[in-house]
Amino acid sequence: MNHPEPSLRNPSARTGETAAAGNPPDAAKYAFINEVIARVDGRPGALLGILEAVQERNPRKYLCADELSYIAAKTNIPLSQIFSVVTFYALFNREPQGDHTICICRGTACHTRGSRTLLESLRLELGMEEAPGQAGADKLTLTTPDGKFTIRTVACFGQCALAPVVELDHRICGHMNERALAREVDALGQERHE
Ligand code: FES
Repeated sequence: MNHPEPSLRNPSARTGETAAAGNPPDAAKYAFINEVIARVDGRPGALLGILEAVQERNPRKYLCADELSYIAAKTNIPLSQIFSVVTFYALFNREPQGDHTICICRGTACHTRGSRTLLESLRLELGMEEAPGQAGADKLTLTTPDGKFTIRTVACFGQCALAPVVELDHRICGHMNERALAREVDALGQERHE
């Protein structure tokens, strides 16, 4: 299913100051957003490119409300449309992410090979509570209170032959089991995060 990409309808707006424009200490952030908007101006997928770049620059890899409002003001794209793009694409985060991200596949092949047990054991190991309404949910994102780890679920990595599949900080690991996962997560926890 394709999400309609809103166009940047009034690129000249990017030179005008708006109520959403920030003052120091956010000046560098907004200068970066201006630069990104100018760079992708008019290209197909411009909004996606802007959102991706802004999220990537955020140390906690998420899009906060003031950034979205600023992008809306600068591009003249309604904020509601921007929110709908952000919520449609799984790659965008609305909450701060941990230093390390562990994605557990909950697709059919991985499910039949024990991915729910992997998810539960990891959640318990990291002492994460299920958020209200997430009990037993297959689709979740949880971050430890110390901001070290985020656990997410995905629908399928397209690597079903390797089920169950877990992605550790963008590294795909197949045929995962509880002990190996605990070992990997331990090792990640000992890494110094830059
Ligand atoms: S179902 Fe897990 S990789 Fe496809």
